[in-house]
Amino acid sequence: MPAPSLIFISRDDRYPRWHPALEAALPGIEVRCWPDGEEPRAGITYAIVWHPPHGVLARFPGLKAIFSVGAGVDHIFADPELPQHVPVVRLVDETLTGQMSEYVVLHVLRHHRRQPEYDAQQTDRVWRVLPCPPAADRRIGILGLGVLGLDAARKLKALGFSVAGWSRSKKDEPGIECYSGREELPAFLASCDIAVCLLPRTPETRGLLDAQMLAHLPWGAALINAARGGLVDEEALLAALENGRIGGATLDVFAAEPLPQDHLFWRHPRVTITPHIAAITNPASAARIIAANIERIEAGQTPLHIASRDRLY
Ligand SMILES: NC(=O)c1ccc[n+]([C@@H]2O[C@H](COP(=O)([O-])OP(=O)(O)OC[C@H]3O[C@@H](n4cnc5c(N)ncnc54)[C@H](OP(=O)(O)O)[C@@H]3O)[C@@H](O)[C@H]2O)c1
Repeated sequence: MPAPSLIFISRDDRYPRWHPALEAALPGIEVRCWPDGEEPRAGITYAIVWHPPHGVLARFPGLKAIFSVGAGVDHIFADPELPQHVPVVRLVDETLTGQMSEYVVLHVLRHHRRQPEYDAQQTDRVWRVLPCPPAADRRIGILGLGVLGLDAARKLKALGFSVAGWSRSKKDEPGIECYSGREELPAFLASCDIAVCLLPRTPETRGLLDAQMLAHLPWGAALINAARGGLVDEEALLAALENGRIGGATLDVFAAEPLPQDHLFWRHPRVTITPHIAAITNPASAARIIAANIERIEAGQTPLHIASRDRLY
C-alpha cells in the first residue's frame, strides 16, 4: 500500500501556520499545499480544507477522507462536484469548543449586565444605574444543541442562568429546557431574553431567523450570532432593531465577509461586531485530532465525526 500523503487546500494564507503543526503531528506523511503540490494527484490520500474552490477536491481520485479546518462543513458541501464516496470529517476540538463558550458567555454577560448601555453612558458621561434581574430570571436560549451549543448551555447554566435549547432532534439535558423541530421554534424563541445562534448553515437553516421568526422573540431581546452568516436575515434584523423587537445584537458572522464598509451594522449603536473570531481553530490541537483520525482510517476503522450527507452538517 502506498504511504499516505496529504494536501492542504485553502484560498487564504493560513498554511504557514498549519505546516509546522502538521509536520509535528504527522511525521512520515508527506504534506503538500494546494495548488503548488497538486501533482501527481492520484497519490494524495487526505485533504484538509477551508473553503476549497469548487471542483478541486474532485481532482484527487485517491482521497480517503476530507477534513474540515473548522467545525462547520458548509464550505465543503457547497462544492457541487464534491466526491460522493469520500467521508467529510468535522473538526471537534475541545480547544475550539472552549473558545466558543468563552465568546458566548462573554456576550451573554454583556447583554445581561447591560454593558453596551453603560458604554454609551460613559461616552455621554452619564452616571445612572440600570436595573438588572438576577441570572436565574434571565432566559437564555441556544439555537443548536450540538458540540458547541451544549457546552455553552452547560457553562451558562453553571453561572445560574435559566437556559433552554433548540435542536433538530429532542435532547434530554439535565437543567436545560429542550425544544426541537420547526414546530417548537416559535415557542422556544418566545422564551428567549437572549438568543444565541450556534446552528450549522444548511439548506434548512439558511434564512431561518427571518422577520417572522424574529417577531416571536420577546420585545427588547438580545441576539448573538456566532454560527454563520446567512442564518439571520440581515434586513429583518435591522428592522427588528429599529422597531425595538431586538434590543441589541452581537454578530460575529455575516452574509458577506468581510462585512462591507458601507453596511449599516458598522455604525448601529446597538450592534456589536466581531470579525468571525468567536472560535478560531488552533492548528496544533487540530492537527493532532486529524492525525488520530488518519491513524484510525489507516488501521481500517471509521473516522470519528463524519458529517452526514443527508443533513449536511
Ligand atoms: N463563528 C465562529 O468562529 C465559528 C466557529 C466554529 C463553528 N461555528 C459554527 O457553529 C456551528 C455549530 O457547530 P457544532 O460543532 O456545535 O455543530 P454540531 O455539533 O453539528 O451541532 C449542530 C446543532 O444544530 C442542530 N441543528 C442542525 N440543523 C437543525 C435544524 N434544521 N433545526 C434544528 N436544529 C438543527 C443540531 O441538531 P441535532 O443535535 O438534532 O442534530 C445540533 O444540535 C458550525 O456548523 C459552524 O457553522 C462558528
